[in-house]
Amino acid sequence: GAPVEVDISKLEPGMLLMVEWRGKVVWILNRTPDMLESLVKVEGQLADPNSDKKQQPDYAKNRTRSIKPEIFVAEGICTHLGCSPVFRKDVAPADLGPDWLGGFFCPCHGSKFDLAGRVYKSVPAPTNMVVPPHAYLSDSRLLIG
Ligand code: FES
Repeated sequence: GAPVEVDISKLEPGMLLMVEWRGKVVWILNRTPDMLESLVKVEGQLADPNSDKKQQPDYAKNRTRSIKPEIFVAEGICTHLGCSPVFRKDVAPADLGPDWLGGFFCPCHGSKFDLAGRVYKSVPAPTNMVVPPHAYLSDSRLLIG
C-alpha cells in the first residue's frame, strides 16, 4: 500500500487521531507533559520497557518510542490476537485500578499498554505495540509508510 500523509497541525495535546494505512488503524497520539511523565513512572510494571524485542524502527528506540517526544505513532492493534485496544487516558479509573496512569486497554482479554504502546507484565499480549515506519515532511505533516 501507498504511504499516507497526515496533517497533525490540529492535533491538540492529549488527543488521539486514527488514520488508515494498509488496511490497518494507525494511531497518532499527542502526549501531554503528564503523559510523558507517566512513561517513567510505569516502567517497573512493563514486560519490555526498552523494546528489546524490536517492535519499532531505529529512530523510535527510546523511552517514548517516537521521533518527537510528544507524538506517538503506532498500529492500533493488540499484539495478542489483533483486537483494537481502547485509548484510556483516565488516571486510576475504577475498572483498571489505582496504578493506571493512562494507556491502551484491550477489552478482548485484558491486555494493557502504556502511552508508548509498551505492554504490561502478566497480560496475554506478548510484545509492545508495533510502531510503523514514518517520517516528518514538516513540523505538522507526517508520512506513514
Ligand atoms: Fe488483545 Fe487478546 S486480543 S488481549
